Amino acid sequence: MTNTVTADFIHVFEPGEDSARPPLLLLHGTGGDERDLLPLGRAVAPGASLLSPRGKVLEGAARRFFRRLAEGVFDEADLTARTHELADFVEEARERHGLPAPIALGFSNGANIAASLLLLRPEVLAGAALLRAMPPFREPPSPDLSGKPILLLSGLMDPIMPAAASNVLADGFVALGAEVEHRALPAGHGLIQADIGLLQAWLAQR
Ligand code: MLT
Repeated sequence: MTNTVTADFIHVFEPGEDSARPPLLLLHGTGGDERDLLPLGRAVAPGASLLSPRGKVLEGAARRFFRRLAEGVFDEADLTARTHELADFVEEARERHGLPAPIALGFSNGANIAASLLLLRPEVLAGAALLRAMPPFREPPSPDLSGKPILLLSGLMDPIMPAAASNVLADGFVALGAEVEHRALPAGHGLIQADIGLLQAWLAQR
């Protein structure tokens, strides 16, 4: 495992032994860092390479991947710029480590920037698992996402991302041609055991 500071993102890259598995791009939630999702990544995709950047935006002491104006109200100009920056980082990391396109595994703020990557730079990802995500743009772009596998796991009691918002996100991806699996779980914003099982099963098919 290497913890590297590059010109781009502080990140961890953990090479995997199973080259049949696509690498995972791990994107943490608000207040997390590049180490947060490593145990989850190892558990749900054993043997996969893990690429885990640290969000560059600070909200107080909490790290995030893009700025927000209030909870659930995003600074879309900042989100757009940071999505491209993250996409460039992933492309550079792929070249550096000889990796195929990764599957994003994002939680909360990390899931929201992963959704934004799918909308703005879809070629960068082989697919995405979005845990507790909401629509990142009020007027989203319409890329062709034909055949792109997307797993959406939302919480029916999530006070931060209402169930209706995850339905809008899921419907939007379906309309763009993605292969969407959306499960609404009896959960809040935090992850529960069912998230892990569903993630494992979905990733095993990639
Ligand atoms: C966001 O800002 O991305 C969402 O409100 C989730 C969060 O990080 O709290």
